[in-house]
Amino acid sequence: MAAITCQGLTKRYGGVTAVQALDLAIAEGEFMVLLGPSGCGKTTTLNMIAGLEEISDGTLLFDTRDVTRLPPHKREVAMVFQSYALYPNKTVAQNIGFPLKLRGVAPAEIARAVAEVAEQLELTALLERRPNQLSGGQRQRVALGRAIVRHPSVFLMDEPLSNLDATLRLSMRSLIKRLHHKLRATFVYVTHDQAEALTLADRIAVMQGGVIQQLDTPEGIYERPANTFVASFLGSPQINLLRQGLPRPGWVPAGREVVIGLRPEDVARPGDGLVTLSGRVELVSPLGSETQLELSVGEATLTLRVPKDWRVAEGETLDVGVDPARLHVFDAATTMRIAP
Ligand SMILES: Nc1ncnc2c1ncn2[C@@H]1O[C@H](COP(=O)(O)OP(=O)(O)OP(=O)(O)O)[C@@H](O)[C@H]1O
Ligand SMILES: [Mg+2]
Repeated sequence: MAAITCQGLTKRYGGVTAVQALDLAIAEGEFMVLLGPSGCGKTTTLNMIAGLEEISDGTLLFDTRDVTRLPPHKREVAMVFQSYALYPNKTVAQNIGFPLKLRGVAPAEIARAVAEVAEQLELTALLERRPNQLSGGQRQRVALGRAIVRHPSVFLMDEPLSNLDATLRLSMRSLIKRLHHKLRATFVYVTHDQAEALTLADRIAVMQGGVIQQLDTPEGIYERPANTFVASFLGSPQINLLRQGLPRPGWVPAGREVVIGLRPEDVARPGDGLVTLSGRVELVSPLGSETQLELSVGEATLTLRVPKDWRVAEGETLDVGVDPARLHVFDAATTMRIAP
């Protein structure tokens, strides 16, 4: 049992406010991702939950228990960092078993627990090696093993995959997802990688400037971004955001200054119910499974993703259909989403 409730959580470093009155209720067993650009306050938030940073203001609850001033070792949380922080002179088995040894667990019980964890993380053949004899991915699995061996009810992870190459990152991502399904613990996971956030999270808190910009499911964040910052932060290539050049949905009040957003993939061949945009193809980038292109429409240049069988050539004129219901509309002054 470990729901986590942040109420007005604030962290000030002298004159700098790193996290500003953050409210966040994380359900027991939920996979919550804190996502945002560098310096937005993700690590600071995680460290306040872990007890590694003193909380300047606000209240932190684990279930109904107030843990705001509780020291880290009494919080029953396991932390996994970007740097693996393994003990270089200990074997893999000793590294994984160390948290149990610290608690005075009997050696036979430690050996049993280590064997079980090693099995789960495919480390059984490596138990007698030392960290410098392991690859980055193997080291990160040892760090995970050391975190799960105690069966904590809360896992806090700070960019645990960012030191790994792209392929390994993908396989570790699925491993973490499977671990979550299996352990049913509460996960709070920090990343600035939107793909990681979208694939792992039950819910994502998008942060900027120490403030949560939007809290929603991955689908909600992507389909209904709360403001232009969130709209631009998720999606690759980025959403097209234009004050002019995209059709204005009929429900938008006349005279209201708005920014219209079109996701690159939200185009089709012209057809019924679609608004046709006509432009010149400036650049074609085949991506294998689909094609990315730049289309200049009047003054605007749109980045689009289309099926590879469209066989578009640079320099040609292309008509694309846009469903007005798929357009995103934001207030130009406040940047906030407006909806019909
Ligand atoms: N010890 C400190 N003293 C002063 N300012 C700090 C300290 N630690 C962090 N900050 C500031 O607090 C803000 C949030 O930092 P934090 O480390 O939480 O960002 P982050 O979202 O984890 O970024 P990154 O993605 O780069 O890791 C930043 O502006 C940072 O400069
Ligand atoms: Mg950080």
